[in-house]
Amino acid sequence: MSFAVDPNKVPKRTLYTGDTMPAIGMGTFGSDKYDPDTVSKAVAGAIRAGYQMFDCAAVYGNEDRIGKVFKEAFDEGVVSREDLFITSKVWNDNHVPEKVLASCKKSLADLQLSYIDLYFVHWPFRNYHSPGCSGDARNPDSRPFSVDQFMETWRAMEDLVDQGLVRFIGMSNMTIPKLEAVLPLCRIKPVAIELEMHPCFQQPELFQYIVDKGIAPIGFCPIGSPSRPERDKTETDISDIDLPEIVSIAKAHQVHPAIVCLKWAVQNGQAPIPFSVTEEKYIGNLKCVTEDPLTEEEMDLIRKADKNNRLIKGQVFLWEGANSWEDLWDLDGTITK
Ligand SMILES: NC(=O)c1ccc[n+]([C@@H]2O[C@H](COP(=O)([O-])OP(=O)(O)OC[C@H]3O[C@@H](n4cnc5c(N)ncnc54)[C@H](OP(=O)(O)O)[C@@H]3O)[C@@H](O)[C@H]2O)c1
Repeated sequence: MSFAVDPNKVPKRTLYTGDTMPAIGMGTFGSDKYDPDTVSKAVAGAIRAGYQMFDCAAVYGNEDRIGKVFKEAFDEGVVSREDLFITSKVWNDNHVPEKVLASCKKSLADLQLSYIDLYFVHWPFRNYHSPGCSGDARNPDSRPFSVDQFMETWRAMEDLVDQGLVRFIGMSNMTIPKLEAVLPLCRIKPVAIELEMHPCFQQPELFQYIVDKGIAPIGFCPIGSPSRPERDKTETDISDIDLPEIVSIAKAHQVHPAIVCLKWAVQNGQAPIPFSVTEEKYIGNLKCVTEDPLTEEEMDLIRKADKNNRLIKGQVFLWEGANSWEDLWDLDGTITK
């Protein structure tokens, strides 16, 4: 099989176990805008273009369609199972231990796999919102972060590794105070942490903390998620692809600003997982990290352009009595209660 982009030229990340994963993957969240068929067709095209990492999740509502596409690719000999690094995530309403196992088994069945490479706790709360809800939706059962509850879920995640259902486990949407509380309690440390990362939201302290712990950072919304759901948009949000520094670097390299965001991400050290259903865009997104790197000056310019502009604020997970979405992110350095 000849791929549009040679997978051997795509940079890799070495995990603390010594295993590797691609330094860039493809996201699969349709942002309440692209239906499962459209997303899965893009995954089929992406496998044939040379992508080897796919970021899936039960809540994206398309794992059964994507599973068909994986099976076809294996059956047709396009790739083998071992070539791909496939992630999935347990959603917030499935955190109690029996449900973690059931949720993992459901994702395995939907994805038509005998194992998932990396299985995440999607959000560190049991707080649930229905898919496609509006930004001001609140669930009266929502509660602040609890170390005990999180660790109960994590023990069930560790069991999945013991049972061979998943190779590795990871966390997502964490903060330094939460990690400080839970990492010393882990029997199996996360190999990776998913966090929002794009030029306007670089999270330098959290990024460095994760790297210093030997954990691989995976950056979501790497292009600033221009198609994100309405509930995740606020008037003050800054668009990464319109940022003057990104636009000027894009002009210098004669590429779209999205490409600059991805080159920056891989060179900075996180593994970005850009989403697109357009063939030209998703091929370009993979190819760009194999050629024409940004200069040190350009990397420095982007580092200084950080706007601390979180896009996925998570307000739909707030509990009664919480002040604002900032409570989810422990801004004063302690876990908000
Ligand atoms: N762990 C978590 O909690 C979490 C949260 C959010 C996201 N994620 C993961 O991260 C993935 C990526 O995040 P995201 O999809 O929100 O945002 P993103 O990858 O930053 O942005 C995706 C959008 O960027 C545009 N785009 C992509 N490539 C482009 C290119 N080369 N040129 C111009 N525009 C381009 C596309 O717009 P068009 O649609 O108009 O083509 C696409 O919809 C998700 O799919 C999901 O897998 C995880």
